[in-house]
Amino acid sequence: MGFTMSLNLLLLLAMVATNILSLYHLSSTIQSTPPAPPPVPDHLIHQLSTIRATINHLTSLQPSSSPTKKPPSSTPSDLLLYTHIAPIASSCKDHPLLLHQYMNYTPFALCPNDSPLAEDLILRGCHPLPRRRCFSRTTSTIPSSLPTNPFATLPENTALLGHYRCKTFSCFASTKSDMGFDMTVEKSRFLTYKTDLDLPIQQLFQLSKSAKSVIRLALDIGGGTGTFAAHVKLQNVTVITTTMNFGAPYNEAVALRGLVPLHVPLQQRLPVFDGVVDLVRCGRAVNRWIPLITMEFLLFDVDRVLRGGGYFWLDHFFSKRTDLEKVFSPLIGKLGYKKVKWAVGNKTDSSGVKNGEVYLTALLQKPLSN
Ligand SMILES: *[C@@H]1O[C@H](CO)[C@@H](O)[C@H](O)[C@H]1NC(C)=O
Ligand SMILES: *[C@@H]1O[C@H](CO)[C@@H](O)[C@H](O)[C@H]1NC(C)=O
Repeated sequence: MGFTMSLNLLLLLAMVATNILSLYHLSSTIQSTPPAPPPVPDHLIHQLSTIRATINHLTSLQPSSSPTKKPPSSTPSDLLLYTHIAPIASSCKDHPLLLHQYMNYTPFALCPNDSPLAEDLILRGCHPLPRRRCFSRTTSTIPSSLPTNPFATLPENTALLGHYRCKTFSCFASTKSDMGFDMTVEKSRFLTYKTDLDLPIQQLFQLSKSAKSVIRLALDIGGGTGTFAAHVKLQNVTVITTTMNFGAPYNEAVALRGLVPLHVPLQQRLPVFDGVVDLVRCGRAVNRWIPLITMEFLLFDVDRVLRGGGYFWLDHFFSKRTDLEKVFSPLIGKLGYKKVKWAVGNKTDSSGVKNGEVYLTALLQKPLSN
């Protein structure tokens, strides 16, 4: 333990020293008019190489220093190496055992069969995960044709399903119809108006058209198998779907449908630039189980990526009725968006009834700033 702590401290020192060095480089480059690289002071180089040498020493020492006891708690050498070249998420340090297990692999060989481990770490906030230098596992079958129809049955044997209870896509499709793998169900989603909580795609486009606000590019946060993207692709709209592989191969499904899956968790800053998106949709993955402060950052990040006049669509957001009134409505109100649609309805499944939950479906329009 003490060993690991001092090692961590050293790594921290090394990072600080590296930053000081780059800062020094930067500031002196800005100041000197001819772009000749300024010499780095000897004491900094010396300091850095001492730290590096110590790390190298400790790294080479470590495997023999504790040969048998608790191998997962010793820092894998590739983790040390990676920490040296790029930052990793601060939450990663809260899960050292998982992280060490993840980074304990043989470089330049086939990666361990451990995709659920990566998923576990990411869901615990360890994102971005460190990179690894191993070869990812693949299936032996590839789809035989381009996915011209995003509602076609997903081709079997094109994703690694060994980690799941279901070993085929058809199993996922028949287990629970609302998981997104049953294409006969997906084909009719987003098209009909059954309750006030629905916003059919046709209506969405009519609303934006009458407001002279064209939708070209959208982001579907927590978009499952990409069904929203699939439907609007037929309208020539491009949608990026963020989705996790929580219990099912959602990312593979999105890709097999010819859509764009982004494997990013809800707490990550959206990987697009400010003001480039016309529509952001949040499906049921965004709900009352997200900590309030996380939710607040999420909403303001949505605001960042939306262009003026763009839309934020909260689709079946669920919370307790009182929380919607006292917490979430005021939170959403902070954005200052125009309420194009605001519908609340009882969540009538068993947990919804038990917890007094309601759904909110809202379509909000970001104002134009000057
Ligand atoms: C989508 O693009 C295709 C090819 O350019 C065009 O034929 C079709 O009419 C477009 N559909 C819509 C809904 O704009
Ligand atoms: C929704 O649930 C509340 C509380 O259970 C109930 O008072 C209300 O009548 C319900 N509304 C509808 C439309 O069913």
